[in-house]
Amino acid sequence: MNNNTFVHKYIRPLLDKEKTVVDMTAGNGNDTLFLARYAKKVHAFDIDAEALKRTYEKVKDHDNVELHLDSHANIDQYVEKDEVSLFIFNLGYLPNSDHSTPTKANETLKAFQKAYSLLKEKGYIVITFYLRQEGGYDEYYLLDDYIKKNRLQILEAYVQDKIDSPITYIIYKSVKD
Ligand SMILES: C[S@@+](CC[C@H](N)C(=O)[O-])C[C@H]1O[C@@H](n2cnc3c(N)ncnc32)[C@H](O)[C@@H]1O
Repeated sequence: MNNNTFVHKYIRPLLDKEKTVVDMTAGNGNDTLFLARYAKKVHAFDIDAEALKRTYEKVKDHDNVELHLDSHANIDQYVEKDEVSLFIFNLGYLPNSDHSTPTKANETLKAFQKAYSLLKEKGYIVITFYLRQEGGYDEYYLLDDYIKKNRLQILEAYVQDKIDSPITYIIYKSVKD
């Protein structure tokens, strides 16, 4: 099972029509569309206009999606604290493109810190790292170090049994902070 299949299987039971969720990296819109089907409200971010165009084409029949051409590091300008039940980060570059807007370690860390602080209690952050991509290991080490130093709860670490294959963390926030 690849990481995207694992993520969709894992989060399906966590979603319902009362939940607000955020796709922090809209890309081709596959995750946004999945979330739109099962959540009440979806915010989706990308800094690449082409990515948002592709996402729009996928979700245009859903009236519960708001697309934002902005960095996920500005998430605090769009949602309230304790409003969001789940954030999903699918890192790296836009597939089938010139790869000009890959996620960047420091920006991802800033977005992750804000997401965790905004997240509702009993909420989830799902984050997938692509180690083989340029800068992939730097991004993984920076975030992994932050998650471990701050003792965030990792419920699952999913990795296919191949060298350098993508890693997904399911992070759970059990209490209000
Ligand atoms: C692997 S793709 C996401 C795939 C997507 N979730 C899907 O289902 O198709 C990663 C995306 O992150 C976007 N990205 C890079 N930096 C970003 C940032 N600071 N804020 C939001 N999106 C960003 C890229 O432009 C790219 O489209």
